[in-house]
Parts: sequence; C-alpha cells; structure tokens
Amino acid sequence: MSLKHESEKTLSRPIHALLNSDALRHNLQRVREIMPTSKIWAVVKANAYGHGLVMVNSALIQADGLALLDLAEASILREQGWVKPILLLEGLFSQEDVFTAIDLGCDCVVHHLDQVDWLENLAEAKQSSKPMAMRVFMKMNTGMNRLGFEPEVYREVFHRLHSAGYQVAHMTHFANADYVDKQPSVDMQLEVFSQAIEGLPGETSLSNSAAILWHHHIVQSDWIRPGIMLYGASPSGKYEDIEHAKLKPVMSLRTQIIAIQHLEAGDAVGYGARYQTDVPIRIAVIACGYADGYPRHAPDGTPVWVSGKQGLESGQICPIAGQVSMDMITIDVTDMPHADIGTVVEMWGDYLPVDRVAQAAGTIGYELLCAVAPRVKRSIVD
Ligand SMILES: Cc1ncc(COP(=O)(O)O)c(C=O)c1O
Repeated sequence: MSLKHESEKTLSRPIHALLNSDALRHNLQRVREIMPTSKIWAVVKANAYGHGLVMVNSALIQADGLALLDLAEASILREQGWVKPILLLEGLFSQEDVFTAIDLGCDCVVHHLDQVDWLENLAEAKQSSKPMAMRVFMKMNTGMNRLGFEPEVYREVFHRLHSAGYQVAHMTHFANADYVDKQPSVDMQLEVFSQAIEGLPGETSLSNSAAILWHHHIVQSDWIRPGIMLYGASPSGKYEDIEHAKLKPVMSLRTQIIAIQHLEAGDAVGYGARYQTDVPIRIAVIACGYADGYPRHAPDGTPVWVSGKQGLESGQICPIAGQVSMDMITIDVTDMPHADIGTVVEMWGDYLPVDRVAQAAGTIGYELLCAVAPRVKRSIVD
C-alpha cells in the first residue's frame, strides 16, 4: 500500500481523507456490468465529489470520458494527462469560453439559446468546411424544469446546431429516478424525450446513478452519466438501497481522539450545553469539526466509528454527544474503556457508510463528501 499526498499545504492535525482508488475502479466496473452497452461519462464535478481530481486519471482510465462543470477543472485534468473526452455539463458561460473549451478539447452541453448563438458564431468564424470538432449534447427539459430546451422548440434548435456543423447528441436528466411515486416519473420523462427526438440523428445520454441502479431495464442510452455511485454512496441517501449493488466506499474520513473527559451526573459538554448526562460518562474529543466539512447540524446520536483494541476492524459505533464545533466533536465512549488519546476514529468510510451518517444528520452522502474542506489531507491508497 502506498500513499501519495495531494497537497503539502496541510495542518499536522490527525484528520485525513483516505481515498481508495481500487474502490473507484471497482465501482466503475460495477457500472459497466449493470449497463454493458453504454459508454460512460464518469461525473467528476465538484472536485470529483470532494475526492480530488488527482485520483481520477488513473482510477477512472476505463471511463469513456469525464463530465464536469468548470473549465478550470477541465484544464487541470488535461495538465494531468487526461486525453479522453471531457463534457462540460452546464456548457459554456460566455462567448470567450468557446475558445478555451476548444483549446481544451471539451465537448459541451447546450441548454439555452445564447449558447447556440456562441457556437454558431464560432462555426461562422471557422475557415474550413470540415465538421466542428466539438460535440454538443443538447439538453431537453422533459419535466425537471431546471435546464434544457422545451420539447416543442427542440427540433428547431437541433437543426441550427446541426447546420452549423456540430455533431449533436440528445440528453435529458431525471428528476425522480430514486423515487417510485413522484412525478415526473422516469417513464414520463422518457416518453417526452423519445417523442421529441424521433427521427433525429445523434447519440443519446440519459441515466444518472439512480437510473443506472434502478431503471436500467427500461432506460438505455448511448452514454450514461454516473456520479455518486462511483464514489460508493447512494443516490437515494439510503444505504439499504445500494447494498445489493456491491459498491465500495472510496473515501474514508479518519481522525483521532485528542482528549478524554470524565463527566459526572448533571454535567454538560460543549457549546450551549446541548448534551447533558444524568449518569457518569466518558467523553472523547476528536479532531474533526465543521471547518473540516463535518455538518454542524449533526444531532446527538449521529454515529462515529471508534477503533477497537485490535484496530478499526474490531471497532464499534459511538454516538456524538454535544454540539459539533469548528475543530472538534465530542462522542460518548463510555462503552469503549480502551479508547484514549491517539485512538483512530472513522467519521465515515470502510466501516461506517457515509449514507448512515448522512441519514442521521438529515442530509445526503453527496453533501458530506463534497463538503470535505481543503484543509483535510487527501491521501490516495493505491
Ligand atoms: C446532468 C447530470 N448528469 C449526471 C449527474 C450525476 O448524478 P449522480 O451523482 O446522481 O449520479 C449529475 C449530477 O448532479 C448531473 O447534473
């Protein structure tokens, strides 16, 4: 096992995020097994869902392309040597972006008319009559009502881009692929999409993680766009929902106990005296707080995994007791008398699914992973 540090600009506090590149490779392979005939845009926006772009090149090399939002992130990936396609999921933000996107060899989503104008301007300025190198993924609003062209205008816009020399693919995004009873349903969005593109040439791109996991029998497309499942977490926010998919957690957020307190009956701990005890207890103070990205709103009882005498494997869950503060969290370790300064604690990861923590804290794994602060060292485990 070798460790590479992404950043040297770190504090010497014991908190760090261990990133398992084998797990990332494994999860990508699981996507392939579930939808073997689709090409994969591995979604790495938001700094690869908080994991860092450094691990992407080697661990996602089997993906057919990477999808993200930011030209700056695309530039980092090219500098790191990523030569396969890159898709800009929100497309261009200005006419100038077109040139940067071309320089970086990016494909782009198109979801509003200004972007169509910018692409037409570029095509007009081009000297040769060869087709445009940049592929565009035209986004249709099939009911999510966030981004995309309405089905009624879709064909007209398609013909503009097509006539300008662009290779145009068709794309939409599902609002409720992780729910069974919400509208618009996957079926409904699929129906709108299929009708609107009927007879048009071009590839398609449909599924996010939820659609891959739970709708792959009915939703097929040339390209799929998995994000959260690559990182081993659940699109629905519930760990039980992905247990069958055999995904592996990529990030393990680990730290250590830095102090022990013995509380008597009637004592309280932390800001606002949120946690009060009516029996004597042992409290461990751990080096992790909201400035590391841990949610401040995590209530008492939110689980944390504390190493046992033989290490993490023999560990057990201990509950948060007291308000999460900027750099510290207090947990009740009364049942773990061996727990002491230096004992390793996992906030989420191999032993404690991020979804379990998210459920207890009233959020989703996406938010916890993306929020891990830059001051937390990221170490890749090869
Ligand atoms: C357009 C698009 N496709 C795919 C994804 C990946 O979604 P998920 O992480 O749920 O797989 C996202 C993420 O929000 C997205 O915006």
